[in-house]
Amino acid sequence: MRKMDCYLKIVSSGIAVPEKVLTNQDLEKMIDTSDEWIISRTGIRERRISAPGVASSDLGTDAARMALDSAGLSPQEVDLILVATASGDHLFPSTACVIQKNLKAARATAFDISAACSGFLFGLTVAHSLMRVGHYRNALIIGAETLTKITDYKDRSTCILFGDGAGAMVVTLGNDNKGLFASHLGSDGRYTDLLNLPAGGTRLPATAETIREHQHYIKMEGNELFKVAVRSMEEAAKIALEKSGLTKADIDLLIPHQANIRIINSLVKRLGIDEDRVYINIDRYGNTSAASIPIAYHEARSKGLFDKDSNILMVAFGGGITWGGVLVRG
Ligand code: ACO
Repeated sequence: MRKMDCYLKIVSSGIAVPEKVLTNQDLEKMIDTSDEWIISRTGIRERRISAPGVASSDLGTDAARMALDSAGLSPQEVDLILVATASGDHLFPSTACVIQKNLKAARATAFDISAACSGFLFGLTVAHSLMRVGHYRNALIIGAETLTKITDYKDRSTCILFGDGAGAMVVTLGNDNKGLFASHLGSDGRYTDLLNLPAGGTRLPATAETIREHQHYIKMEGNELFKVAVRSMEEAAKIALEKSGLTKADIDLLIPHQANIRIINSLVKRLGIDEDRVYINIDRYGNTSAASIPIAYHEARSKGLFDKDSNILMVAFGGGITWGGVLVRG
């Protein structure tokens, strides 16, 4: 394994998901679809849906509190808050600043990361870089989404996919060979049209017409995205592995972004990793974008699926398009 001067150590994790469950059977009553179609094409059985008035910062704050409690750290000891989200509370201020206010983490520097579903892995990597140059000691990395607020429940090709949730990690630096030891991030702006939210930004400010035309909801070219997803995740995983000096045989657990079970299966086949070393929870949450990897990590950790010496490969892709592969030990 490649040696580093210092590693980004994951001290603790936490999650928050809304109580309300939206099942495939519920969707059958809303649009022309079937439980059988959704399960066979996506692997999703149900997803969580936040109540009116609940925003991404609310879920992010709850997940952060769980992670802080578990670390035994007070909000005043947090130096850095990074929030990865594609469904932030506002265009500005950042959701990170809202969470900072909620936590009363007065000393922290807080900002958002916009890389859609890859955002959490971008967050871990940016935190590692900032902390290595000596600016910060304790950081909170949060993936928080309320995608169902920007999902069109008249569009059956997207509304079956997305769910709400948040995941958080408390991280610090260490030099005992534990933590993040390889990362590869990438993006390709030629694919911005494959997945986006057309209106509500400065390109297409809100008007009665944009609302009438459902332009404030996620638009997606699922077929094309599927192909670039598999390609970019494979590349991210392979380059991160190369950088780490490990081989696929050294991977104890693969945590892929949970977008579609068929994307995960194709990736696993291409990488040649045993299926029993892959963490999957897409059936229960659907695609929670930037929250997907930290939720999966927290669940795997709580179930004791890895220990302090395990090598965990996390891989994601997202709108932009963006992709990332991150290797952590423990
Ligand atoms: N129920 C029933 N039928 C449906 C549904 C539905 N919910 N949705 C689409 N169909 C129909 C289509 O109309 C089409 O019918 P037709 O053949 O008569 O035209 C047929 O099913 C096949 O449609 P496809 O789009 O070819 O279906 P596909 O197998 O590609 O599955 C899906 C669609 C699930 C969206 C898939 O393409 C996918 O998962 N793509 C990746 C999406 C993704 O990961 N997005 C998130 C990116 S990450 C981020 O940043 C948020």
